[in-house]
Amino acid sequence: EQINKGNYEHYMQKEIHEQPESLKTTMRGRLIRGGSCKAKTVLLGGLKDHLKTIRRSRRIVFIGCGTSYNAALAARPILEELSGVPVTMEIASDLLDRQGPIYREDTAVFVSQSGETADTLLALEYALENGALCVGITNTVGSAIARHTHCGIHINAGCEIGVASTKAYTSQIVVMAMLALAIGGDTISNQARREAIIDGLFDLPNNVREVLKLDQEMKDLAKLLVAEQSLLVFGRGYNYATALEGALKVKEVALMHSEGILAGEMKHGPLALVDENLPIVVIATRDACFSKQQSVIQQLHARKGRLIVMCSKGDANAVGPGGSCRVIEVPQVEDCLQPVVNIIPLQLLAYHLTVLRGFNVDQPRNLAKSVTTQ
Ligand code: G6P
Repeated sequence: EQINKGNYEHYMQKEIHEQPESLKTTMRGRLIRGGSCKAKTVLLGGLKDHLKTIRRSRRIVFIGCGTSYNAALAARPILEELSGVPVTMEIASDLLDRQGPIYREDTAVFVSQSGETADTLLALEYALENGALCVGITNTVGSAIARHTHCGIHINAGCEIGVASTKAYTSQIVVMAMLALAIGGDTISNQARREAIIDGLFDLPNNVREVLKLDQEMKDLAKLLVAEQSLLVFGRGYNYATALEGALKVKEVALMHSEGILAGEMKHGPLALVDENLPIVVIATRDACFSKQQSVIQQLHARKGRLIVMCSKGDANAVGPGGSCRVIEVPQVEDCLQPVVNIIPLQLLAYHLTVLRGFNVDQPRNLAKSVTTQ
């Protein structure tokens, strides 16, 4: 029953809207709170014999392609914070091109929805040859990556049909947040933070249900942007990944040029593109980077930028004084989980742009769901 479209027109649309449920399935049986067991904790059965080795590793290297890489990038800051282990990122093909260093003392984490992507699989072979502990994070039980890694976590998001990954992305982020909790020790100093994240995970499906109500608003925005040639998306911190992933959705399905930009790099090139015509989405939800994003918005305003600002509910005036820009208000959640909420309006925008532009939503030209050749 999972592979029919139900009441939806397209698989991508269905998969976007089923995220409250897919996230619940991802977390089922893995989060423990209250009841007889008072402690809030995370259980990841597939890793239990390897957690000590992961904690002691010299670094954690995330390896993936496309959306799976972006999901790892979204989770990187919380992994760094809770594990205390350096975390680096590798695009699988680039690691192979460079024959980059992978050590016996590394934990290499392979992130792949299909578990069959050729580049990621070859990078896995390479890491195995180099003696790293290899962990798989996939959505496909029995896939090549699940079989060849030493241990792993299934994301359990359910079958994803649309070529553009949506629900797998949010489930991957949640799995990696749980991985961070599992690796990070339960010390007194980080107890409050851990509990806030676990509470945030429990509340996430409801917040995702809430943000999905922006569907009509995103359709209206898509109508405004339908004839544009290009769209920039600015983010930083936890939401640098949201900028890259939002832009990837727009380019892969709506076939519109779109670029995700690290806001901290704005002055080093992208600022030259800003004028009154080019639409720019700025992600400025509340977190430690908020005031820096406010200053980015001011600088873009000063250059008459055409801004669409994503902010936390109630912050419209703090980001676009006097209705000076279009605002998308989203529920505020724990900072490390905010990328799960923030990507959803951009998935909806990409979806509606695609329909309005008359392109194939579920099978964009030239792309495949699973790229099994190099
Ligand atoms: C292809 C798909 C993307 C996907 C990428 C990685 O390019 O079109 O949607 O993100 O492969 O796929 P994986 O299955 O490894 O996550």
